[in-house]
Amino acid sequence: MSENPLLPTPLPDEPLRIVAAWLEEAVSAAVQPNPNAMSLATVDADGTPSLRIVLLKALVEDPGYGVFYTNYESRKSRAIAAHPEVACCLHWDALARQVRLEGVAVRSPAAESDRYFATRDPASQLAAWGSDQSRPLASRQALIDQTLARAKQLGLPENTTLQKVEPPGGALPRPPHWGGYRIWPRAIELWIEGAARVHDRARWERTLRPSGNGAFTAGPWRGERLQP
Ligand SMILES: Cc1cc2nc3c(=O)[nH]c(=O)nc-3n(C[C@H](O)[C@H](O)[C@H](O)COP(=O)(O)O)c2cc1C
Repeated sequence: MSENPLLPTPLPDEPLRIVAAWLEEAVSAAVQPNPNAMSLATVDADGTPSLRIVLLKALVEDPGYGVFYTNYESRKSRAIAAHPEVACCLHWDALARQVRLEGVAVRSPAAESDRYFATRDPASQLAAWGSDQSRPLASRQALIDQTLARAKQLGLPENTTLQKVEPPGGALPRPPHWGGYRIWPRAIELWIEGAARVHDRARWERTLRPSGNGAFTAGPWRGERLQP
């Protein structure tokens, strides 16, 4: 893909603007079902690394963090409780671009998770109530039974199915074990495929100083090109 524009020279001071632009381009290119899919690497309490895909649901350029949603009792959440340092990677194969993020994961404010949960369709809301993510399961049917039993406890009608979810008030409340994480990157790397495998790559770093309530005061980004 020799026509792929390389990173600007000199490098811009702020890499998140490029990440946001690339994400938008990946969405409008519509060449993959989940252009916001991002691998998320965590480290368990015993030092074992693990990796899975989550969806990057928001990117807040200032002060600079990304948001994903999950079950707070899942393996990844237990890992984050032990080691809040995480690494993420977005890859748009059709655009020949990669973004790497390294930073700290902190739970989103409850009110923000509530707002996001309210935008999900009722079936997705029930699915969040139904799954004790990462826990063992006797069978697929056991998950369906567990979900429908919880639907009953939540006051959903008797004729509820996994697809037919009609809460009396129009929406279900957010489960206490489900919500967002903000990932505050300390480092961002951008990679673009170049002609003849001479790729273009740059890394930016900044400091993060805790400012209370899980937020940070971020220092300025400093970027440099790296050999690909
Ligand atoms: C395309 C795609 C998107 C996914 N999005 C999420 C997500 O946003 N949140 C989530 O908890 N799991 C998501 N998953 C499932 C995770 O990859 C993973 O199986 C699950 O979170 C359990 O991981 P854990 O046991 O390591 O915590 C997604 C999977 C795929 C393939």
